[in-house]
Amino acid sequence: MANRWKSALTSADITPYDAFLNRRQMIAGTLGFGLVTSTGIASAAQPEMELNSWDDITQYNNFYEFGTGKEDPAEYAGALTTVPWGVTIDGLVERPGTFDFQDIISEMTIEERIYRFRCVEAWSMVVPWNGFELNDLLELAGIKPEAKYVRFETLYRPEEMVGQKASWIDWPYIEGLRLDEALHPLTIMATGIYGRPIPKQNGAPLRLVVPWKYGFKSIKSIVRITLTDEQPVGTWEQLQSKEYGFYANVNPDVDHPRWTQETERKIGGGLFAKRVPTLMFNGYDKEVASLYSDMDLRVNY
Ligand code: MTE
Repeated sequence: MANRWKSALTSADITPYDAFLNRRQMIAGTLGFGLVTSTGIASAAQPEMELNSWDDITQYNNFYEFGTGKEDPAEYAGALTTVPWGVTIDGLVERPGTFDFQDIISEMTIEERIYRFRCVEAWSMVVPWNGFELNDLLELAGIKPEAKYVRFETLYRPEEMVGQKASWIDWPYIEGLRLDEALHPLTIMATGIYGRPIPKQNGAPLRLVVPWKYGFKSIKSIVRITLTDEQPVGTWEQLQSKEYGFYANVNPDVDHPRWTQETERKIGGGLFAKRVPTLMFNGYDKEVASLYSDMDLRVNY
């Protein structure tokens, strides 16, 4: 049995895109924090995860800046100019400024992270992200001791983002994390998928990925990161705070007011695929449960 959980995954398996496409291999998913890095070491902590295909990941998206349909982002995101791309880091930091995306990644260690991704709408995927830990970027900026939260902002450019003409959302898209969540080693800024630059519909050139939270926290195409002492109000919380809270931790015991969160539909499984049980903190409970040990998760949903 022990062998079953050992990942055969090495960096050679991870990088070549063709290898992924050919195999859609079963992988056992973790190195310490529920991730597989180029070291290829895996622990027995997670059940097996089957990677979603490139097409699953890039043709079924939520990115309301390009429309509300799942296929709209793939259709319309091509219009987005991503070079050059500046990211402003400001607020309670020692070294605020606007940095070119290329300069940022030249300072960062890009790793492979295979994570479960669970949308609040109760569908899920397994995505092989490439990216760097957010804590490395924040460290570079120098976090002031008064900082308690991190606020993220997506680009506002209605000429290129057709969905931003809709006025029911107060653009730009905003999200936020508590500082300890942002500094957690599972929290990454993704810059790639399957070893390729991240497609525009998935949030090029860089987006947040917080694997234990519902997908709406994982804000795309980020242009501003602000360290603050006030809890940020995210776009979905602002739209409907009774349904979408600040924490948005994946939790099968706390239903969405309009549907169950006990189970999920795996994308790519076909029309008649059985729903599978949703895992507490999306399966990352060992790594993150301690962040919330003193909190009532029904109140702080
Ligand atoms: N970020 C921005 N800027 N705009 C969005 O509409 N949608 C969120 C999140 N990040 C969204 C966003 C939601 S609801 C989900 S489920 C994920 O992105 C979807 O990511 P994916 O399309 O890469 O699967």
